Amino acid sequence: MNPFVYNAPAMRVVFGAGSVAELAKEVDRLGAKRALLLATPGRTAMVKSVADPLGIRVAGVFDRVVMHTPLQLAEEARRLAASVQADCCVVVGGGSTIGFGKAIALTSALPLLAVPTTYSGSEMTTIWGISEGGAKKTGRDPKVLPKTVIYDPALTLDLPPHVSAASGMNAMAHCVEALYAHDGNPIVSMMAEEGIRALACALPRVMENPKDIDARSDALYGAWLAGCTISTTSIALHHKLCHVLGGSFNLPHAETHSIVLPHAVRYNESAAEAMRRIERALGKRDAAAAIYDLEKKLRLPLRLADIGMKEQDLERAARIAADAPYPNPRKVEYAPVLELLRHAYEGVRP
Ligand SMILES: NC(=O)c1ccc[n+]([C@@H]2O[C@H](COP(=O)([O-])OP(=O)(O)OC[C@H]3O[C@@H](n4cnc5c(N)ncnc54)[C@H](O)[C@@H]3O)[C@@H](O)[C@H]2O)c1
Repeated sequence: MNPFVYNAPAMRVVFGAGSVAELAKEVDRLGAKRALLLATPGRTAMVKSVADPLGIRVAGVFDRVVMHTPLQLAEEARRLAASVQADCCVVVGGGSTIGFGKAIALTSALPLLAVPTTYSGSEMTTIWGISEGGAKKTGRDPKVLPKTVIYDPALTLDLPPHVSAASGMNAMAHCVEALYAHDGNPIVSMMAEEGIRALACALPRVMENPKDIDARSDALYGAWLAGCTISTTSIALHHKLCHVLGGSFNLPHAETHSIVLPHAVRYNESAAEAMRRIERALGKRDAAAAIYDLEKKLRLPLRLADIGMKEQDLERAARIAADAPYPNPRKVEYAPVLELLRHAYEGVRP
């Protein structure tokens, strides 16, 4: 076995259907008395009802969260946190909402309590991202890692099936890249393989019956594992490409991950041990093709052309991705990356 470093960040996880009832108790555990609630506009009523037991401990609500954390709006959320003298942020929602909580924590060190309602896995990572001027800047900082995470699958029952599937494949992408990360380790690989298995088994059941609480629990468990995997390992070509496509071309995050993933796996197929683990988790032979087939079964979009990518932007995207050097199992070069993007644009089976 190769030598490795395993860093397990300290955090508390409360998991199970109905566990959001513990919210007030968990806020107390943080010693907080003035919580700022964060939500997307469509989810405000749900978030307020979840936070109802907090009573006067709700110091304010910021419900204008949008995707990709634009700096200007993040600044507004930061100002609100300061003006209401919040001593913690309670974020109830998907990766976008958690992203706003992280933006606040980054500059204020306020503790975050996250109640994730999608499968993005952001709640498990120290990764923050803020977009400005058409580009998304990301970094890692332990300050943005939630102190407590409440996983309540009951809150995910209304997550529309297509959003669930795309978000679940975003989580699977975390697991896949952790398996070939240059700084991976056997513990993370174990979690990644189990995460892929749990997600692949749960997502078709979620599509079939979105109210199936067991399927929702399994999917959320997979998403948790997925978040754990990228929390301690480096991302590679797949995530970098998705950041370029999301940050510079404004493509939707989860669908972009889902479409690019099988092609990124094909690009990196020389990472034999990772491929073996993905295939074992999926119970199939060819990792890239198996992921593509799963996405087809989940009725996810398979072409970047269908989610807003313009053909004339493919070369610029490949150039941006190839110009920033980062570790990846196979060297990141312009021509093969452009070919990968063309395949993802056209949606061909890898
Ligand atoms: N920092 C990290 O480690 C990390 C990891 C993954 C994703 N992200 C970021 O997360 C963002 C994407 O997150 P996402 O894919 O979770 O999407 P999202 O948070 O944008 O949510 C998608 C939509 O689903 C709605 N929604 C959320 N939960 C719901 C529920 N239970 N029922 C019904 N509707 C619900 C939201 O209101 C929103 O309209 C991106 O900005 C991405 O960069 C960050």
